[in-house]
Amino acid sequence: MWVRLSCMRRVAALIMKFRVSGEGLGRTMQDYREVLAEILIDEATLQRRVAELGAEISADYQGHPDLLLICILRGGVPFLVDLSRHLTIPHMMDFMAVTSYGAGRRDSDGNVRVVFDLQMNIMGKDVLLVEDIVDSGHTIASVLGMLGTRQPASLKVCTLLDKAERREAVVPIHYRGFTIPNRFVFGYGLDLDEYYRNLPFIGVVDLQKYRSE
Ligand code: PRP
Repeated sequence: MWVRLSCMRRVAALIMKFRVSGEGLGRTMQDYREVLAEILIDEATLQRRVAELGAEISADYQGHPDLLLICILRGGVPFLVDLSRHLTIPHMMDFMAVTSYGAGRRDSDGNVRVVFDLQMNIMGKDVLLVEDIVDSGHTIASVLGMLGTRQPASLKVCTLLDKAERREAVVPIHYRGFTIPNRFVFGYGLDLDEYYRNLPFIGVVDLQKYRSE
């Protein structure tokens, strides 16, 4: 009995520690309902569009057995998974992670650094980059530049969201889910201080109510 109580106390202390530290964020994350200004793209609309994109890509890549979807971690994961389920043609998947130079900033050219590279050789493959959002365009521009040197048979971009009015780098977008206004969005891969990537819709953050620190 004493051992069980002691264990429970330790677990309770750990939970308290986590709640106070918020995994290093120094706070407990707000419930998303408190900071949701509105749902920009609801689940049904989103899933309908993902299915359409899946059909379009399946038709375009018919007869291309070397289709490789590349997901840029981490935001693109839910979209990649759902999109892949709608593809009716054989395809492969790989993942890469990039980060900005410096502490959360991109350098003057907007270049990014690879922190987790692909496991596959893309030479001769039809590569389709799958992103949750293209914002300034620097990430995708940088990744396209890097992957282009590895001699893929083709290299295209599919993004769920296009925040076109924020664009700084000229990037080709071959498949686009939705063009969205310049608002702070989260859900379906996009995070709110690392939380809520799991939400099945795209929401807009109420900046009056959101405590980011
Ligand atoms: C987001 C998103 C894109 C990038 C787009 O990633 O997933 O990769 O920003 O922004 P840009 O067009 O201005 O370059 P983020 O760096 O937030 O990382 P995450 O996917 O892990 O959330």
